[in-house]
Amino acid sequence: MPHPAPSPAQPQPQPPGTDIDAYLRRHEEKSLLRFLTCGSVDDGKSTLIGRLLYDSKLIFSDQLAALESDSRTAGTQGGALDLALLVDGLAAEREQGITIDVAYRFFTTERRKFIVADTPGHEQYTRNMVTGASTADLAVILVDARKGILTQTRRHSHLVALLGIRHIVLAVNKLDLVSYDRDAFESIADDYRRFAAGIGLTDVQCIPVSALNGDNITELSASTPWFTGPTLIGHLESVDVESTAADGPFRLPVQWVSRPHLDFRGFCGRIAGGVVHPGDRVRVLPSGRETTVARIVTADGDLDTATAGRSVTLTLDDETDISRGDVIASASQPPEVADQFECHLVWMSPEPMLPGRPYLLKLGTRSTGATVSRPKYKINVDTLDHTAARTLALNDIGVCTLALDRPVPFDPYTDNRETGGFVLIDRVTRNTVAAGLLRFALRRAHNIHWQHTEVTRSARAERKGQRPAVVWFTGLSGAGKSTIADLVERRLHDEGFHTFLLDGDNLRHGLSRDLGFTDADRVENIRRAAEVTRLMTDAGLIVLASFISPFRAERDLARSLLPDGEFIEVHVDTPLGVAESRDPKGLYAKARRGELPHFTGIDSPYEKPLDPEIRLDASGPLPPEALATRVVEHLRTSGHLGASGPTPDDGS
Ligand code: ADX
Repeated sequence: MPHPAPSPAQPQPQPPGTDIDAYLRRHEEKSLLRFLTCGSVDDGKSTLIGRLLYDSKLIFSDQLAALESDSRTAGTQGGALDLALLVDGLAAEREQGITIDVAYRFFTTERRKFIVADTPGHEQYTRNMVTGASTADLAVILVDARKGILTQTRRHSHLVALLGIRHIVLAVNKLDLVSYDRDAFESIADDYRRFAAGIGLTDVQCIPVSALNGDNITELSASTPWFTGPTLIGHLESVDVESTAADGPFRLPVQWVSRPHLDFRGFCGRIAGGVVHPGDRVRVLPSGRETTVARIVTADGDLDTATAGRSVTLTLDDETDISRGDVIASASQPPEVADQFECHLVWMSPEPMLPGRPYLLKLGTRSTGATVSRPKYKINVDTLDHTAARTLALNDIGVCTLALDRPVPFDPYTDNRETGGFVLIDRVTRNTVAAGLLRFALRRAHNIHWQHTEVTRSARAERKGQRPAVVWFTGLSGAGKSTIADLVERRLHDEGFHTFLLDGDNLRHGLSRDLGFTDADRVENIRRAAEVTRLMTDAGLIVLASFISPFRAERDLARSLLPDGEFIEVHVDTPLGVAESRDPKGLYAKARRGELPHFTGIDSPYEKPLDPEIRLDASGPLPPEALATRVVEHLRTSGHLGASGPTPDDGS
């Protein structure tokens, strides 16, 4: 997962009268528990975290002074100390009265150090919760004693289970508002335990609390004599969260290669699983080479051993070619390497998922291109039912097939969160659009091989006396793409070159007959068109492709399928007003009348090329013939027409 929680190395106030060295040593030796809190908006989560921070007596005194004055002005407790203000630090949040992003807070008690990820409870903030949960070992789920288990509670629990958290505290809060009623608590606790067991959460500790009054937080409350403990802090201090990452096989995703001088070559990164010692046999993935660990180098000197979570530099016995994104792993238990997977996806973008769109995938320290299939199903987090879905929208969770541009080393997420968790990034906006969990590699990828053909791509092109190319015309409907493409093809044909014109309207009569004009269908239409143009260049042809192709990502996909220099993007740049006034097929008029939904330029977007090889001003003084000439001349000067240099050969 990409959003690492901050390291706990923040300055802590020094308790008065302590020897600072002894204090720091004790502090160093304490174990660390990462947990997250989840609850619905009014469950009192911020108050609870504020209470934990306050009761652990480690709030700086100036922070406390600010809190007191804030409580008087912005507090909801009538001038008394409002602990929620400690957490709801941002003014904007205070005005809205809800927390809107993940915040990590560090606090410590005598026995343990804690990092708490505070994530908002609103349904639309599932993505924040996923971020917080990806590094946590335990979840504190809050419910309001007056309301009991809600849809939100179930939703949070499902997510927590999916993300691999096995330890749950159910904090039944606001017990003061139900007169500390034992039956109210017991019945909520019973309901929850039953539900949690059904989704595989068996370590559940239910605690009756009032965050506001501090009941059962650090000390057992006199108001709940029937509750024998533990307190919330008591449980957090003592709960045993075995770290699966440290127990698993050794994994080091390489972050960078350190080469300060010729005699030293170290591979740096944070250990994502297991333990390593000098002398261990390791395998480097994806290459599969084996070697032995020579040294474990750190800023504080060499180590005899290093465990998951530690940042190290390894040196190896052999000169092995390793680069960023590779994984150094246990030779006896190496990760699998694959390029197709079944995965869980939590969609985090307001823009729905587009099956077939090329996204960027980040898995550990590695980035690669990826496309996602239509979801196999969507998971209803309230009921766990599987429902059919064409896409995933914001906060949806689904199971999809993932295809990567190249094989990567991985572990199933359930075995290792770091080598099995990934994010998808939009190539154009650079926003994170989804978090994903790898489930398993798909075998079908293993059973399909490239079939070698004797007559190669370059032989086919040579026979035709040309260098293949795709001239990709993009622009609005009515911009003039097809007219110009047709003129270019006629010229080339007359000169004896071998061409094919692939036109959007025509493709939609056959290969893309099943597709309409939603974003998702256009993505799939252009994906198919791009694959066909690639096949045609393998046949040695010069392809004229004329598609609105409104999205940059898919035009870039078409480009990425070809060797450098073979994709020529031509933006037929005609302003909407001009295209609309031409309206050769009467479609703009229909769209304006509301009879043709998703019409490009009207209620469906067009993303202009940023850096096309050729831009044609098709509303200017030059006639289509002159614009066609520019395209032909470009092909001539770039060596596509006539035998000038060999064509790249992919061996097929
Ligand atoms: S693309 O967006 O997927 O690239 P494509 O080029 O195949 O579109 O098809 C566009 C042609 O379909 C247009 O030239 C137009 O004749 C027709 N068409 C029908 N409905 C629409 C629509 N909603 N938006 C754009 N074009 C449409």
